[in-house]
Amino acid sequence: MTLPGTTSDAPDGLPAAQAGGPSVPGLSDPGLLRQAAWIGGVERPGKAWIEVRNPASGQVLGRVPDLGAEGALAAVAAAREALPAWRGRTAKERAVLLRGWFERVMTARSDLARLLTAEQGKPLAEAEGEIAYAAAFIEWFAEEARRAYGDVIPGHQADKRLLVLKQAVGVVAAVTPWNFPAAMVTRKVAPALAAGCTVVLKPSELTPFTALALARLGAEAGLPAGVFNVVTGAPEPIGEVLTGSPDVAKFTFTGSTAVGKRLAAACMGTVKRVSLELGGNAPFIVFDDADLEAAVDGVMASKFRNTGQTCVCANRIYVQSGIYEAFASAIAARAAALRPGDGLAGPTDQGPLINAAALAKVERHVADALEGGARVLTGARRLPGEGLFYAPTVLADVPSGALINREETFGPVAGLVRFTSEAEVLALANASRAGLAAYVFTRDGARTWRMSEGLETGMVGVNTGLISTEVAPFGGVKESGLGREGSRYGLEEYLETKMVCLSV
Ligand code: SIN
Repeated sequence: MTLPGTTSDAPDGLPAAQAGGPSVPGLSDPGLLRQAAWIGGVERPGKAWIEVRNPASGQVLGRVPDLGAEGALAAVAAAREALPAWRGRTAKERAVLLRGWFERVMTARSDLARLLTAEQGKPLAEAEGEIAYAAAFIEWFAEEARRAYGDVIPGHQADKRLLVLKQAVGVVAAVTPWNFPAAMVTRKVAPALAAGCTVVLKPSELTPFTALALARLGAEAGLPAGVFNVVTGAPEPIGEVLTGSPDVAKFTFTGSTAVGKRLAAACMGTVKRVSLELGGNAPFIVFDDADLEAAVDGVMASKFRNTGQTCVCANRIYVQSGIYEAFASAIAARAAALRPGDGLAGPTDQGPLINAAALAKVERHVADALEGGARVLTGARRLPGEGLFYAPTVLADVPSGALINREETFGPVAGLVRFTSEAEVLALANASRAGLAAYVFTRDGARTWRMSEGLETGMVGVNTGLISTEVAPFGGVKESGLGREGSRYGLEEYLETKMVCLSV
């Protein structure tokens, strides 16, 4: 199976699209990838276009329309029009269509993975993993669609019966980030569609192609026109429409805390339901009694997955004194062995940073830690070449007040902080306004409970560095967000609770 999705409407002199060919042009031919937006079940080219670059080479990969407010309004209108028929379908009918979408995504897995690596930079094996992860949300919510049960409550008076109905919220606007161009789309769109909502998706302008390909596969699977719309372009004008339109009932965003706060505030003008999955600053805590090998595996997976560009990745790494030196030398050896490189060019373990600003932030954090007295165990330098690569880095003896411990680095830098007692490390871990994920490595059962209950985060990994799955609730506390994604809790976010009081 090939991916649908190029437009023949080439903007200003771009090479013609591959007629009828796979929609991964730019990877297999010298032409540029270009895709129209997807609104109301048809392509929508733009008058202006935005360039998308491959971060591994710096080359322009292709272009997507910059649709602005006009495109966003058209997408909201399409979603609004499609809503009554979609929510009127039985849950089973919606489930069957979602299942078909899941199957198409899995069939196109390697094409999608190549597209994802080309626009986002992660190693191909990780991209394939992300496509499977993305598809798993569609599969899960296809099944969950049929379990949106309501309730019957014993009446408060002898002649009263109380019903609780679960109904689709309405039109959903979803804004998704560049670090997981597939999974963050399906983690929002699949539950929304399962619940009977229609969707306007604004993918990151840095990684729009995967989202567009997913929408086309959905259409191939039979999702009706207007049920899943993708509007591309610069964020501000589109965001203004999506947060301000009275036709949008629910707004869901994954991205930075600063932007999330602004968008949520804008949503209050029309009192929308809001879900936010925002920045983290995950503490990763290794106690003396930890299984050293498991802790090193855990930190490698958590810290260096996606080149450190995940909201849940280990950011502050606290290691107890007794295990500190052994842990530090083991992780430094493992990090030094990672192979950075273009994910499409050969076997690699680390991709580039997404853009120059991301690379500059990593350099700033490392410089600040070194000024504070940290020691370089490996890395701590930009790699030569056009791509935005930074050497996998391990720093020892990072002061706990360093920038790297106060802000999300979002890069391949592990900074180690030594601690002595459980009380001390719990206080350090909780001294942050972020509260997304935390990790604890210990073999003490009672401590596992104390730490799991004491950590102020939405998720805790115990003796594992990988916690993400479609079957568990994902989300944060404090300034890391509102609401949960994935699992049965993720469906609730797209359902309204309506009470009906019957006099019998
Ligand atoms: C994220 O970085 O926002 C998502 C990471 C995940 O789902 O594991």
